[in-house]
Amino acid sequence: MDTPTRFPAYLVSSTPAGVTAAFITMADDQLDPGEVTVRVQYASVNFKDALAATGRGKIIRRFPCVGGIDASGVVESSRAPHFKPGDSVIVHSHGFGVSHHGGYAGRARAPAAWVNRLPPGMSALEAITLGVAGYTAALGIDLMELNGLGPAKGKVLVNGATGGVASVSIDLLAQRGYQVVAVTGKPAEAEYLRSLGASEVIASADLPAGTKPLEPALWQGAVDSLGGAPLAALTRSMQREGVIASIGNAAGLDFNGNVMPFILRGVRLIGVNSDNEPELRDRIWKRLGSDLRPRHLSRISHVVPFEQLPQAIEAVANGKARGRTVIDVGSAQG
Ligand SMILES: NC(=O)c1ccc[n+]([C@@H]2O[C@H](COP(=O)([O-])OP(=O)(O)OC[C@H]3O[C@@H](n4cnc5c(N)ncnc54)[C@H](OP(=O)(O)O)[C@@H]3O)[C@@H](O)[C@H]2O)c1
Repeated sequence: MDTPTRFPAYLVSSTPAGVTAAFITMADDQLDPGEVTVRVQYASVNFKDALAATGRGKIIRRFPCVGGIDASGVVESSRAPHFKPGDSVIVHSHGFGVSHHGGYAGRARAPAAWVNRLPPGMSALEAITLGVAGYTAALGIDLMELNGLGPAKGKVLVNGATGGVASVSIDLLAQRGYQVVAVTGKPAEAEYLRSLGASEVIASADLPAGTKPLEPALWQGAVDSLGGAPLAALTRSMQREGVIASIGNAAGLDFNGNVMPFILRGVRLIGVNSDNEPELRDRIWKRLGSDLRPRHLSRISHVVPFEQLPQAIEAVANGKARGRTVIDVGSAQG
């Protein structure tokens, strides 16, 4: 019988005192079932990962669970015909890092439907800089364009602008010729946001909130990572047939809206969810390697050694991070 491969992993557990997370040594025979086993090079810290590992959000659906909702690396073994050892891949979404061991480990094993081959010429570091965040940003733009968004029709607002989804959204939208307005709680990061392609940067505190059912129509599109009151304000300030991509809830789950923007301006509020079937995943990853290829990934990523994962999680949980926090899992394995 083969000796199991051992590797470091960051395991999130539930204890009577609450959720805890710690580094452990794991063996590949402890991984969850799946057709594809990957030697992980990089993982990342998404907002959801930070809520999961700190217990600030009820994210983990099966304890204990290796955290990390995305990872990039190289296929070690595969029972799926379309993946073979040596393929460069990314794993993300569905149960990964939530109800199935995720990316914070030297090895990850997942169903083939959660795995995508990297587009030609894309490195593992570039792929994880995109990760779930970049995939969702691209899916949001794809859906917005299907709903009428076009570069000549007006400005596109991106809120929570220094975040992962937002940073990639700014890069992708600017690359496609949109006039992008970045709205951030960190106005000191204006230069970073302009370097990604934002043509205007507004501090969230300076964004007119307004309380009328309809406010001045300013935006043809909006990428919303926040939910809550910022989303409600957005609905009231969209142009006719403006499109909002609702992606996240960093500012809250509930929002107080009214129907006037929808019935008088034809505003479209579209939901974006990254748990998709293989055909759609494949199409979006192909677009990320071609017509939606980002230009500024090296500015967006910040690479942290695996052993500093707990500090990186705290930074994201406290809204202190910028762009995408990438975890160099491979370096911990020699
Ligand atoms: N629908 C999906 O499938 C999907 C996929 C990926 C992510 N998401 C969701 O999308 C959102 C963004 O994810 P992410 O990974 O990009 O997160 P992130 O990197 O942590 O970015 C979130 C950004 O929101 C702003 N923010 C944070 N806390 C806030 C608060 N309390 N009030 C107002 N603004 C706040 C900050 O930007 P500024 O300081 O610049 O304002 C922060 O950088 C999250 O809610 C995440 O769960 C959903």
